[in-house]
Amino acid sequence: MRSDRERPFVLGLLGSPRKKSNTAVLLERVLNGAAAAGAEAETISLRELEFSSCLHCGRCDKEGRCVVRDDWQMIYPKIRAARHLVLASPIQFSGVSGEMKSMIDRGQCFWVEKYRLKRPVSEVGGERRGLFVATCGGRDRRVFDWAKHTVKAFFSSAGFCYWEEFFGAEMDAAPPIGERADILAKAEALGRRMVEGASSA
Ligand SMILES: Cc1cc2nc3c(=O)[nH]c(=O)nc-3n(C[C@H](O)[C@H](O)[C@H](O)COP(=O)(O)O)c2cc1C
Repeated sequence: MRSDRERPFVLGLLGSPRKKSNTAVLLERVLNGAAAAGAEAETISLRELEFSSCLHCGRCDKEGRCVVRDDWQMIYPKIRAARHLVLASPIQFSGVSGEMKSMIDRGQCFWVEKYRLKRPVSEVGGERRGLFVATCGGRDRRVFDWAKHTVKAFFSSAGFCYWEEFFGAEMDAAPPIGERADILAKAEALGRRMVEGASSA
């Protein structure tokens, strides 16, 4: 498994179902900022994976490990190895996207490990920061709060604190996200801050 000692590993999971994605643009900027601060950054787009949601089979209850054989088996070790995690999702019907929610539900084995078996989910010591990035089409920013509860629960189970959030509303209006220099600069600064201020003890 990857060592965190030389460069902190920052993992970004993207939950947009589409290729030309507003949320992807923000996530890219966040991870650029993290990389500029010395991190090794990796993005995984959930739409490119083959995985199911949680089957509630109960097989993780004893060992805290998921037995469903699909692409998720390569994501688990990456989440365990990550110093910081960015979950990036569009808002869909006032919550995270279906892709992101399916991913979160597969985190049930983390929940079992942490709360039932009372074992650490990760060998990475120190502060592990969780950042929630989301975009929505409309003006009503309350949708971010509704989605946030789900993301918070996931971060907690997977051993991350809910460190920060970055939300972009009214994304369906012009100009396109790629031209909104103010938002992009803030996203990049946040990625940088995520890495620079974290204790690694
Ligand atoms: C199925 C679906 C549901 C959506 N629901 C909402 C919603 O509840 N509130 C909102 O403001 N925007 C909603 N939107 C708009 C998206 O959140 C917005 O376009 C977002 O920026 C898309 O991100 P993406 O380009 O990364 O996929 C919805 C879009 C879709 C396709």
